[in-house]
Amino acid sequence: VTLRLFFRLIGAVLCLLAIAMFAVDFLAGNVVERNYLSHFRSELTGRARLLDKASGSDLARMDGARMRSLARAAGGRVTLVDPGGVVLLDSEAEPARMENHRNRPEIAEALAGRDGHAIRHSHTLATDFLYVAIPVSSGALRLAVPLAEVRRQVNSLRLRMLAATALAFLPALAVAAWFSRRLSARVSDIIGFAGELAKGNFGARPLPAGGGHLGLLSGKLNETGENLRRTVAQLDREHAELERLERIRKDFVINVSHELRTPLASIQGYTETLLDGAIDDPDHNLRFLRIIRHNAERLGRLTADLLTLSRVELGRQNFEFAEYEPDELLSEAIDTLRPLAAKKSVAILYAPLPGGPNVYCDPEAVHEIVINLLDNAIKYTPEGGSVTVGAHQSRPGEVEFFVRDTGSGIPSEDLPRLFERFYRVDKGRSRELGGTGLGLAIVKHLVKAQGGEVRVESEPQRGSTFLFTLPAPGESGGAGASTDLTRSST
Ligand SMILES: Nc1ncnc2c1ncn2[C@@H]1O[C@H](COP(=O)(O)OP(=O)(O)O)[C@@H](O)[C@H]1O
Ligand SMILES: [Mg+2]
Repeated sequence: VTLRLFFRLIGAVLCLLAIAMFAVDFLAGNVVERNYLSHFRSELTGRARLLDKASGSDLARMDGARMRSLARAAGGRVTLVDPGGVVLLDSEAEPARMENHRNRPEIAEALAGRDGHAIRHSHTLATDFLYVAIPVSSGALRLAVPLAEVRRQVNSLRLRMLAATALAFLPALAVAAWFSRRLSARVSDIIGFAGELAKGNFGARPLPAGGGHLGLLSGKLNETGENLRRTVAQLDREHAELERLERIRKDFVINVSHELRTPLASIQGYTETLLDGAIDDPDHNLRFLRIIRHNAERLGRLTADLLTLSRVELGRQNFEFAEYEPDELLSEAIDTLRPLAAKKSVAILYAPLPGGPNVYCDPEAVHEIVINLLDNAIKYTPEGGSVTVGAHQSRPGEVEFFVRDTGSGIPSEDLPRLFERFYRVDKGRSRELGGTGLGLAIVKHLVKAQGGEVRVESEPQRGSTFLFTLPAPGESGGAGASTDLTRSST
């Protein structure tokens, strides 16, 4: 493509050169020929006059030999005609055999007393002749020379002129070659770049900027490439995110099926055993029934958690927002779980926040959050440990709640995934303790839905602290807002 462009430009210049040469030849050639002929004519006229003088103005009485030698000296054919047109002498033919010359234009002119001239084709010699005739005392003297010589000279002049024109075009040709090389290089760069774009390679090296329309085009192409690159990157990111979400969804379905299958299988198995006769076995029937009940409860918890989670995730949970005192929210949840803590001999230490800002939230949702965190804290804290609950203003417009325990703690590698659905550090232990693995996922979504954030700080063997924030739009700041006075209660 580049080469073609190059040759086209060169071709155009060559065409231009041909036109120029043709024009030069046509215009100047004609002028030169005319000038040359008129010059030659006047020279011949001069020679004829000289001839007349040399003969002492008495040509008619000259003999043939002298006539021929004079004609040679004059460089042409000499003819003398009387006033009636009759040929008296001729340097190359027998006058007696020549017809009357009265009607030859140059002779007619000379007989009328003026210099005459004409160009004519001579059939005898098969060539064009230039005839010049002057009036002399005995009639008219004519000098004739073949035009071939004149033409040869004119042609050589024309050739030289054409050569000069061509030579003058050489620099133009060089400039055109240089320009077309540069142009075609730029165009081929642009074509290459556009080709890369068409192939979907948007990372190609951007085109060099430059002036003119090509520069403008390069700029636009660079812009297009950059836009495409950004769009594709964005689509790639979105695609990856969609794939990730799809993977999570599939995992979730598998997890749910798996979680439901175990208790269902157990219920089915024990029910069949009972029906097969174990119902009448006083040693086992009650135990089997308790197992069935336990698994039914587990199914109930699972389905309840799943329902809650999907409601919150899909945004179908109807929140009723209002302002509440943090103390009010925490006390209720603590009271609910106090019996559980007491049964496990875990102390709940609670520090209310006197005079702190109110939080804007849905109390049911906060209750569910705190219950879940407290339940975990109690579950994963060994007997004799303690759980501390509190709230403080972390920054203006925000209250942070926390549930801290002295339990087993969580390995740091598990922390990033802790809030995922069904993610458990120790699956067996969680199940044994009646967990569904959905509690923290529910917590995360409930906190988010109320405009807060949840996080965890934990070290194995040293306990964990779960923290979440809620907006406190009313008063911000206030004395003692970030102080928590710990009050012990069991
Ligand atoms: N206070 C805690 N101390 C130690 N580990 C915890 C604590 N809270 C949660 N975890 C870990 O996080 C996992 C997920 O918690 P959660 O979603 O509430 O599920 P579940 O309580 O049903 O097991 C738990 O299985 C447990 O491994
Ligand atoms: Mg839990």
